[in-house]
Amino acid sequence: MDSILVTGNGPLNGQIPIAGAKNACLTLMPATLLSEEPLTLTNAPRLSDIKTMTALLQSLGAEVSSLQDGQVLAMSSHDLTSHTADYEIVRKMRASNLVLGPLLARFGEAVVSLPGGCAIGARPMDLHVEGLEALGAEIELEDGYLHAKAPGGLKGAVHEMRFASVGATENIVMAATLAKGTTVLKNAAREPEIVDLVECLRKMGAQISGEGTSTIEIQGVDRLHGATHQVVTDRIELGTYMLAPAICGGEVELLGGRMRLVESFAEKLDAAGISVTETTEGLKVARKNGRVRAVDVVTEPFPGFPTDLQAQMMALMCTAEGTSVLEERIFENRFMHAPELVRMGANIEVHGGTATVTGVEQLKGAPVMATDLRASVSLILAGLAAEGETTVSRVYHLDRGYEHVVRKLEGVGAKIERIKGQ
Ligand code: UD1
Repeated sequence: MDSILVTGNGPLNGQIPIAGAKNACLTLMPATLLSEEPLTLTNAPRLSDIKTMTALLQSLGAEVSSLQDGQVLAMSSHDLTSHTADYEIVRKMRASNLVLGPLLARFGEAVVSLPGGCAIGARPMDLHVEGLEALGAEIELEDGYLHAKAPGGLKGAVHEMRFASVGATENIVMAATLAKGTTVLKNAAREPEIVDLVECLRKMGAQISGEGTSTIEIQGVDRLHGATHQVVTDRIELGTYMLAPAICGGEVELLGGRMRLVESFAEKLDAAGISVTETTEGLKVARKNGRVRAVDVVTEPFPGFPTDLQAQMMALMCTAEGTSVLEERIFENRFMHAPELVRMGANIEVHGGTATVTGVEQLKGAPVMATDLRASVSLILAGLAAEGETTVSRVYHLDRGYEHVVRKLEGVGAKIERIKGQ
């Protein structure tokens, strides 16, 4: 298995291009199932999760061609042959469950494996099921698979979610585009990836309003047509690389970054003593003089502080002046990076969903292990700021969500290399 070797070597300067959003692409791809006509996505990120979704769509009979070195995905669901999302693919990636709503809407039937346990918590699907049942679906669990049927077709309804789940919002919105009548989804998630999905669905002929607010209204239509759509910038990759100059010093411009994608995160960086300014091409991040200040963080649904940046923020807080409290409210069990950071000399205490980090002056390089996608990149960030060498193993997690991580960080002066495994 490959590993990544990082050697801390001072300030970083230059530019890093930010890719299209993994999480947007993973919901835009299943939207192809809603129409017989082609859907083309541009600015797609080159990631293993995208390959997994490609394999899933192909297993259903969709055609997916990866063009221009993977940045363009040309898809067609003209001749689908299956409505079953197999456990062998779903277990690799929870976002596979995003085929449920579209398959049900187009065929009145879908069989989707439950994703099963996940390293960062239980992650059930009850909110997806409740929303689709409100639209008239009958859903049963058999042999680990959700069997969903809507014999008379889906019907619009008013439904309020108990929690603003991102995936459930996406599944319900996609299903409602082809339902009869109007659906009003209350307490919907407001993430930029949902806004991006709605913009694409609208290009396909869907009638939707209210995206980006907590009430989304969908007027069902008989059919959707083909479209071409550019995937929105990845705000999590953006936030991650914003932390590189924050941790190491220097000044880095993140190309394609926009403030509206990372507002609450940028506010925390500002409080910590990091300047973030919007330029014509992106966001420029620089550390002001002196040590970073400790700030407290609570993860929340958008527009709050993203759970997907909590691990990376913890890496920054490890060398801050003072004590910071990081509270994880979205997922249970999402502090697996903490003991690895402690191996690098960090002072962190975890109690339930709260981590208390007391900054130390200097982290020290160490062999560490990645446990999930965001944890793995937090260890790389910590390694950039540490004295000596840090080896991060199990980097297949990283390949799920960060394209060309070595090249991007090398480009701003980091000493980082990928070591091929046996
Ligand atoms: C998406 C993102 C993920 C991010 C998360 C929260 C994708 C592909 N992934 O995941 O990177 O960390 O949003 O911003 O877009 N829950 C239930 N029942 C459900 C659904 C969810 O209890 O039916 C719980 C989950 O266990 C979790 C919380 O709700 O504790 C948030 O989950 P959700 O918003 O659905 O996240 P995902 O869509 O899985």
